[in-house]
Amino acid sequence: MTTPIPSPPSVPFLGHVTIIDREVAIYSYNLLAKQYGEIYTLNMLGSKVVVVCSQELLHEVSDEKRFRKIPRAALDQVRNAVGDGLFTAHGEEPNWHIAHRILMPAFSTMNTRNMFDDMVDVISQLVQKWERFGPRHRIDPSQDFTALTFEAITFCAMSYRMNSFYVEGMHPFARAMADFLIESGNRALRPGIVQPFLRGTNSKYEEDVKVMSKYVDDIYDQRKANPTEKKDILNLMMNGKDPVSGEGMSEQLIKNNLLTFLIAGHETTSGMLTFIMYYLLKNPEAMRKLREEVDTMIGSRLMTVDDVNKLPYLIAVMREALRLGPPAPMRGTAAFEDTTLKGKYAVQKDVPIYCGIYMVHRDPKVYGEDADEFRPERMLDGKFEALPPDAWQPFGFGVRACIGRPFAWQEAQITLVYLMQRFTFVMHDPTYDLHLKQTLTIKPHDFYIHAIPRTDKP
Ligand code: HEM
Repeated sequence: MTTPIPSPPSVPFLGHVTIIDREVAIYSYNLLAKQYGEIYTLNMLGSKVVVVCSQELLHEVSDEKRFRKIPRAALDQVRNAVGDGLFTAHGEEPNWHIAHRILMPAFSTMNTRNMFDDMVDVISQLVQKWERFGPRHRIDPSQDFTALTFEAITFCAMSYRMNSFYVEGMHPFARAMADFLIESGNRALRPGIVQPFLRGTNSKYEEDVKVMSKYVDDIYDQRKANPTEKKDILNLMMNGKDPVSGEGMSEQLIKNNLLTFLIAGHETTSGMLTFIMYYLLKNPEAMRKLREEVDTMIGSRLMTVDDVNKLPYLIAVMREALRLGPPAPMRGTAAFEDTTLKGKYAVQKDVPIYCGIYMVHRDPKVYGEDADEFRPERMLDGKFEALPPDAWQPFGFGVRACIGRPFAWQEAQITLVYLMQRFTFVMHDPTYDLHLKQTLTIKPHDFYIHAIPRTDKP
């Protein structure tokens, strides 16, 4: 005997796409979770999807013997630019296996430590910019963190400088990418029959792909023309061999993955840093504790690679900000075979299951009545490990989990230490309350700050 999965009323043909907010889809999924509970089903333009919103269900669908990643509809559209790159590849595509095996060691925590100096180089540019502009300058942290993380991934992984801090406004690549991701999301919610008629939108979309590809071609061609001994990720892709098949990566596969790293590697980390800044400014006691920790453990000396992962409150702040603001708020999976969830909800094989990470991270059964509050103390070592399995999953799961996690983790720690040592921060508008911007990822929108150089250095 199975229990029907609840579903909101829908309109013929379009199904439920009309009830999904086009600007910030995650608001709608979250609202539906409040109305329908831990599981509900939607009809998206004739295709059924199941949305799971509790830790218990996320834990169940994170069983890799029963479920595998399928890129959600919006992510599938991203293939228009990156093809079978790691992020968008389907598990059965051989190129995923080849690239995964070649690249995993390069993104290990050990190898990421070797990128420490290059990360500091890039972070120093941000610090310099904020020092030069001074305390009266209104900073858009999302834009500056995007420049930072974009520069970090290109410089550390590809030894290529985009010079993001020296262009007015957004870097052309970052702008093309943001527009491309927004339109990819819109395409997923639009009936296919309409698409060919949107000529202006389509040509802008193609243009954005061209802009991004041009940078990737340039990075690739420059390295081809000027080989180096440096053991960066680009060199590894060009020269590495898959230990199983003995095959290398083709030029196209390298380019697909270069673009994948540019897309997957910077929006997410910049979203994380912007959420951290927002939550710290809204919670002055947490900001105070973090500053105290940095002052006590590092003071005014330069941070070294040995300080990474040694600041427990900083780590707790990062975990808690990723809980409330997971930059990738949903991921897609599907069952290999017809199955039931919790022994009662029937789910057919291959039907997309959307894992509502954003909702799971607020599950009151796990996080209690104050689940919506920012409280880094609940994420301190010891408490964090005691959370039920899969209650915190901002980096995905299993073999398809984020390959860039150690990179983002280290980059964020250095950035926060450097900023805490050198500035105090205030919100431009003290009455600002969080609202989100969503492309493929989410981040705070219309959020501005001031950075005041510290005069009370320890
Ligand atoms: C996969 C989140 C940083 C590269 C993922 C997934 C998530 C995620 C949730 C799984 C997606 C899915 O199941 O569909 C994040 C967050 C980051 C971050 C929250 C920062 C805070 C990075 C960085 C890089 C990167 C810095 C690159 C240097 C990738 C790649 C995949 C991936 C290539 C696909 C892995 C595969 O399927 O083999 N990330 N990511 N990410 N991420 Fe990240």
